[in-house]
Amino acid sequence: MNNGFFITGTDTGVGKTVVAATLAYALHQRHISFSYIKPVESGISSRRHLENDSDAALVKRAGFLPEALEEIVPFTFREPLAPLLAARREGVNLSGKELGETIRARIKPSRLTLVEGAGGLLAPLCPNYLILDLIKELKLPVIVVCRTSLGAVNHTLLTLERLRREGIHPAGIIANHTTAVTGVAEETFIAQLTEFDPVTVLGELPFLENPPSEFKAWEKLATHINFDNLFVNQAAQ
Ligand SMILES: Nc1ncnc2c1ncn2[C@@H]1O[C@H](COP(=O)(O)OP(=O)(O)OP(=O)(O)O)[C@@H](O)[C@H]1O
Ligand SMILES: [Mg+2]
Repeated sequence: MNNGFFITGTDTGVGKTVVAATLAYALHQRHISFSYIKPVESGISSRRHLENDSDAALVKRAGFLPEALEEIVPFTFREPLAPLLAARREGVNLSGKELGETIRARIKPSRLTLVEGAGGLLAPLCPNYLILDLIKELKLPVIVVCRTSLGAVNHTLLTLERLRREGIHPAGIIANHTTAVTGVAEETFIAQLTEFDPVTVLGELPFLENPPSEFKAWEKLATHINFDNLFVNQAAQ
């Protein structure tokens, strides 16, 4: 088992980067040395876009990471599409073998590494190669980020069940309130989920009125993550 976490989600836009940035900020605050890798990022139309408005840049800033953006995100595609589709439309032929080897080579067993997936667990990365295949290859404990809105229980149970079916024990979920809605579904999400699944709840992040992008937000969100549970769980893997 490698040292760190693979951050996946029930879908695109559920808050994987927000969770990665919060963990990066918290690790830096605790003087824990770590790396962050975003294996593939779509929707990067220019160098300026990469530097200012990418997942890689956001987490690099949050965690004061010294490595170059190219180290953090080895493969970028221009269109904001699933990686395999974006690659095909650019005429790029990236195989699962090449992607897996590139990322494996960047993970040092002695250093904690956060890897952020793309989309959800079964998002296509390369021909015949899903996010799930990369997870299996990297052997990192898995954090599942999920929404809390209507439908989220179903999506989260499906994701957890598929992970376990592949022999992967999820380190836990982080429930993220991605909208301002606070209805019955949002308020009861954790209770509903844990009634049907014994997964560890690592945190429940509140909705922030200003989209989280700077230190104040990471500091606030970090108070909603149970770091003891996170690291105990990792040690037990
Ligand atoms: N708790 C929150 N409060 C307010 N806005 C949020 C919250 N969590 C996420 N967001 C916003 O939702 C959007 C999606 O979040 P994020 O980029 O972290 O998702 P993702 O799962 O990493 O998506 P992708 O699959 O594209 O990598 C972002 O604009 C982010 O700022
Ligand atoms: Mg992201």
